[in-house]
Amino acid sequence: MFSRRLFLTSASAALWVPASARASAYPFTLGVASGSPREDGIVLWTRLAPEPLKGGGMSGPAEVRWRLCEDERMTKVVRQGVVMTGDDVGHSVHIVLSGLQSGRDYFYQFHYADADSPIGRTRTASRTATTAKLAHASCQSYESGYFTAYKDMAEWMPDCVIHVGDYIYEGGIGTLGTRMRDIGKGRRQAFETVRLHNSAEIVTLWDYRNRYALYKMDPHLQAAHAAAPWIVAMDDHEVDNNWAGDTPQDPYAQTMLEFRVRKLAAFQAYWEHMPIEKPPVLEGLKSTLQMYGRYRFGPAEVNLLDTRQFRDDQACGDNRKPPCTALLDPKRTLTGAAQEDWLLKGINRCEALFTVLASQTWFGSFRYNGAPDAPERNLDQWDGYPVQRQRLIDALAAGKARPIVLSGDWHCSAVMSLHRDPYEAKTPRIGHEFAGTSIASACPWARDMKDALSQNPHVHHYNGDQRGYVRHTVTRDNWSAEYRVVADAGIETSPVRTDITFDTKEA
Ligand SMILES: [Fe+2]
Repeated sequence: MFSRRLFLTSASAALWVPASARASAYPFTLGVASGSPREDGIVLWTRLAPEPLKGGGMSGPAEVRWRLCEDERMTKVVRQGVVMTGDDVGHSVHIVLSGLQSGRDYFYQFHYADADSPIGRTRTASRTATTAKLAHASCQSYESGYFTAYKDMAEWMPDCVIHVGDYIYEGGIGTLGTRMRDIGKGRRQAFETVRLHNSAEIVTLWDYRNRYALYKMDPHLQAAHAAAPWIVAMDDHEVDNNWAGDTPQDPYAQTMLEFRVRKLAAFQAYWEHMPIEKPPVLEGLKSTLQMYGRYRFGPAEVNLLDTRQFRDDQACGDNRKPPCTALLDPKRTLTGAAQEDWLLKGINRCEALFTVLASQTWFGSFRYNGAPDAPERNLDQWDGYPVQRQRLIDALAAGKARPIVLSGDWHCSAVMSLHRDPYEAKTPRIGHEFAGTSIASACPWARDMKDALSQNPHVHHYNGDQRGYVRHTVTRDNWSAEYRVVADAGIETSPVRTDITFDTKEA
């Protein structure tokens, strides 16, 4: 068992750092990470950034040594090497390893000059494991709350963390303190800003690098990365709120060309800060980043989706609206044709007991009022792409594995049953969706949703008031989702407790 003492200390303290590294120009200020676990491989990550909020503070080529060991004391070396990094990748390091044993822990560390990085624990994927521990998180607005949930997650030491997006927020600097905001229907609610962003809204590669650095300097986020491998896919705020394909949130304020350049900067910075396998590809002015992928954790096969990069623009306008006829165009897609084809083949061929869609946005339907003919729905989510969703529901219902959806985006916890007709809870249930709340982001629509619960009988649990994450324990006959919530995300030392545990075998 990995001793957490090695890299975790008290609630507010940083990672364990060896004495030799406590120099003023310590380069591993952003910690370490691992991810994209395969049955025989893993990606190890770090970035040299002695001045993390000023572009990193490195210049020219740099030689980084790394070691992968069987033991937490770093004595039994399995692999080691030296890699060059430089300005073109923000002095980030990605080590893509293969040929490892499946389903086992490894420990890793980087070295630069006389500085040693923190030690990270990682774990390869496994086809044969009988159980899996998966943590699932999203939406970590730095200004809205502390990342206390990650301290709790690191202590659980999952096999893998599934992050479904909004790892950073692109907005500018707020105002510290509590302010009242109009939340509609004449109601007002208090929102807190507990700490501040480091710049105006981010647009350039320099901006994005410094924003990632700000977030990644958080000790609890670093602890969660050092405790387990992550699989990650961005949602909207890693680029621009509610962007879709090549369309920004506000096409009247940024040209298509400006947005394409911005998107490339955002993708490049994402690659430089995440333990993913491949950098973005630029063809002409069109950038793409491979984020969707399939991962196996014993009884669960996880299809990590990318529901932002290849989607058609939101129909009928953004946000919550009654549906319009454009929604029913069968060509409208949230994933793009290639990803849908890949997903359908995966669902059909799945040999695991559970087939999992890890989606940024909610898959199940939610009506925000009782209007009988045209209820208001969130058209940025799968509710805005109903024809494609039905194709996936049909495939999930026909498959042998039990369907599970993990989702984020909407800053509230919800346990939902998924039905053959997603608008009708009386139709056969095909599986369950676990929508995670946010690590830190606020939920201004929580009251509206609570008021509408009677219109949504497929929602079995709802909590829009607390921040946190979900612990999933998967066995051969049960998917157990334990919702961990932070008492008050505005207090860094706030306690974390279990809100509910939902067992599918009892549902
Ligand atoms: Fe979010």
